[in-house]
Amino acid sequence: MLDRLEQLQGETLTQIDRTASSAELDRLESAVLGKKGELTTMLRTVGQLPPEERPQVGKLANEVRVALEAAFQARRAALQSHELASQMAAGAIDVTLPGRRVPQGRLHPATITLRQIYNIWAEMGFQVYQSRDVEDDDTNFTLLNIPPHHPARDMWDTFYTTQKGVILRTHTSPGQIRAMHEYAPEPIRVILPGMVYRYEQVDATHEMQFNQVEGLAVGRGIRMTDLKGVMIAFARRMYGAERRVRFRCSHFPFTEPSVEVDVEWEGGWLEIGGAGMVHPTVLKNGGYDPRVFSGFAFGIGPERITLIKHAIEDIRVFWANDLRFLEQF
Ligand code: PHE
Repeated sequence: MLDRLEQLQGETLTQIDRTASSAELDRLESAVLGKKGELTTMLRTVGQLPPEERPQVGKLANEVRVALEAAFQARRAALQSHELASQMAAGAIDVTLPGRRVPQGRLHPATITLRQIYNIWAEMGFQVYQSRDVEDDDTNFTLLNIPPHHPARDMWDTFYTTQKGVILRTHTSPGQIRAMHEYAPEPIRVILPGMVYRYEQVDATHEMQFNQVEGLAVGRGIRMTDLKGVMIAFARRMYGAERRVRFRCSHFPFTEPSVEVDVEWEGGWLEIGGAGMVHPTVLKNGGYDPRVFSGFAFGIGPERITLIKHAIEDIRVFWANDLRFLEQF
């Protein structure tokens, strides 16, 4: 028993030196000095030894206990001060560092252009009319004077759905029909912005979804000169007061006559959209008597305006959600 006591003291002192954390030291201490620890158990059995051995064993056992307790205490103090130091080092705060900037969201370039467009038309008395993205074939085509199988349908490559007659709008013009149905027989002055969808092969200049801003004015005595006037006013507000505007003859089934509107841009002409006088058949389909009412309509492509303004070469960046692009605005 005396041998074991000495051996235990030696072993434990070595182990104490090797502990790397105060938690590890606690575990070692309870294994030796705890209620069920080896030394405690030995001390408890001293009473069962022959009387002549008891004093010597008892004395040594107590000496071992005192020595080990002192060793545990010393090691604990050392470990704790080391642990405190490393905690402080890890949590160090340099109060002289400048603050970190919180990342800030921003408007999409297409949204910025759209809002400019809304503002310009609002000043001319045009309200925003929200139409729908999912349309029926009738409103997108037939009521706009494009009957089924008419070759003019080829101008718009259409996304069809599995439900018969339900399509994604290929232009914002069906909103003209919806606005007329809602307002007839009152006069109308609205713009209809929103996404349109086309079954296109996507490349640098073609996207299968993009925005359009439709315009519609219906009333008594509205003439082609009114259309020219507002388009010129819009172009000059958007691009500068000296900007020249050109109207080219064109064709759309839902306007008669029809034009394409160009603005001067870097020595050439840039097409900003189609326009024309609302076709009598379309007025009738919308609930207006074409002998009493007339109107004009236009469709502007805001992405094109944005592309030109920022010299963006690939239309696909608009919907690619690449922060390297978006963060530049
Ligand atoms: N909807 C036509 C297009 O998508 C544009 C347009 C709108 C033309 C209104 C005339 C009048 O090409």
